Amino acid sequence: MKISIFGTGYVGLVSGACMAEIGHDVVCMDVDPVKISNLNIGVLPIWEPGLEALVARNFKEGRLRFSNDAAQAVAHGDVQFIAVGTPPDEDGSADLQYVLAVAQTIATHMADYKVIVNKSTVPVGTADKVATAVRAVLAQRADETPGFDVVSNPEFLKEGAAVNDFLHPDRIVIGSDSERAKSMMAELYEPFMRNHDRTIHMDVRSAELTKYAANALLATKISFMNEVANLAERLGADIEQVRKGIGSDPRIGYHFIYPGCGYGGSCFPKDVQALGRTAAQIGYDAPLLQAVEAVNNRQKTTLFTKLANHFGGPAQLRGKAIAVWGLAFKPNTDDMREAPSRTLMEALWQAGAKVQAFDPVAMHETERIYPDQALLSLCPDKYSALAGADALVICTEWQQFRAPDFEEMELRMPSKLIVDGRNLYQPTKMQASGWTYVSVGRAAVGA
Ligand SMILES: NC(=O)c1ccc[n+]([C@@H]2O[C@H](COP(=O)([O-])OP(=O)(O)OC[C@H]3O[C@@H](n4cnc5c(N)ncnc54)[C@H](O)[C@@H]3O)[C@@H](O)[C@H]2O)c1
Repeated sequence: MKISIFGTGYVGLVSGACMAEIGHDVVCMDVDPVKISNLNIGVLPIWEPGLEALVARNFKEGRLRFSNDAAQAVAHGDVQFIAVGTPPDEDGSADLQYVLAVAQTIATHMADYKVIVNKSTVPVGTADKVATAVRAVLAQRADETPGFDVVSNPEFLKEGAAVNDFLHPDRIVIGSDSERAKSMMAELYEPFMRNHDRTIHMDVRSAELTKYAANALLATKISFMNEVANLAERLGADIEQVRKGIGSDPRIGYHFIYPGCGYGGSCFPKDVQALGRTAAQIGYDAPLLQAVEAVNNRQKTTLFTKLANHFGGPAQLRGKAIAVWGLAFKPNTDDMREAPSRTLMEALWQAGAKVQAFDPVAMHETERIYPDQALLSLCPDKYSALAGADALVICTEWQQFRAPDFEEMELRMPSKLIVDGRNLYQPTKMQASGWTYVSVGRAAVGA
């Protein structure tokens, strides 16, 4: 099938490459000319496992093209995906300006029937707004205007596993009341359903709400667990034992109940906020959503608080050197949007501490975000970040941090203090080898 995708970020680029991989003919369009010219020479704007090879192969074989020519992109696809950003507006609601701009672009150039698909995460009612925007432009055209349908097809891929998620989806949600659009969407996704059909058809509004409900529920699990971790810490319990005790209940399960230093990324924070705004706009009080957000905001400050407490207050951090392992908001991505590492580093700089940071893939992104930060050194590997540090703080649970060489670490960092936001190590073992080890939801040892 011929497909056009507007927006070549995490969602658009991964969707485009995966759809090309199973044989569709894909044009990815973006308004950012640098992104498009880089993609045309094989330089990707993001790091995602397996994506570079997938893009290179499909580009070479001609099934995946990149363009900033909107007319060409609209002419190409029978199905037009909108995969642009929906960042928070000033009041936290989803800013739909990019989505509606694409709708207008499609309406300006379309010459025949199109299925317009919202893949961006958008509030309930956005499909109606897209349809209204398209109709408004079509009404101004002098020629005979073609038909269209707007479909909601939210994306559930996870950064860090995006290619695998897209190629092997848990479910494909398709919100539409048009038989024509539904059958085209079914044809498009059929190659991903070889094992069994995982398509869930529903009405448009339910599909739009499904995406927010999924992200809000996952965020709720994280905030709930962080709340219990903070209680465990104060009650002399061990949250890791509690986690195993509750995860073994199949009604609860082990997924998404890790305590830590808060969720980040481009989705959970903004989607919880946007759903809260939707509730407020219709006059519904949604205290659970507000609490999920508030707990998370507080949890993102926990590493700084623990560090400051250890040294006797924030003022004592002035002039200290703090090593930071992990900058991305989670492993296997270079995405640093809303990352807990940023909350920590910014608080450290505010207190006058120096940061020696390492992340396996997010170093360029850190440099881009903090180009002139004199109190930041980016280190080439995890051990060099420790040189003379007064403490190490772990923000992201990359695999390579799980079993480090503690003797090597001790040589580089005689202070032997770790504040671990991801509970990677066993407190008893750390204590036995003379480390001061502060983690989340467990008693600090060696302090
Ligand atoms: N990142 C994720 O893991 C994820 C997962 C599921 C859903 N989503 C949702 O998908 C949407 C996109 O997220 P993302 O992370 O891919 O965003 P992103 O910021 O990485 O990429 C968005 C892209 O859209 C481009 N763009 C903006 N206006 C455009 C226009 N008029 N025409 C063409 N391109 C345009 C931008 O230049 C940018 O390259 C958001 O609504 C997000 O909530 C994201």
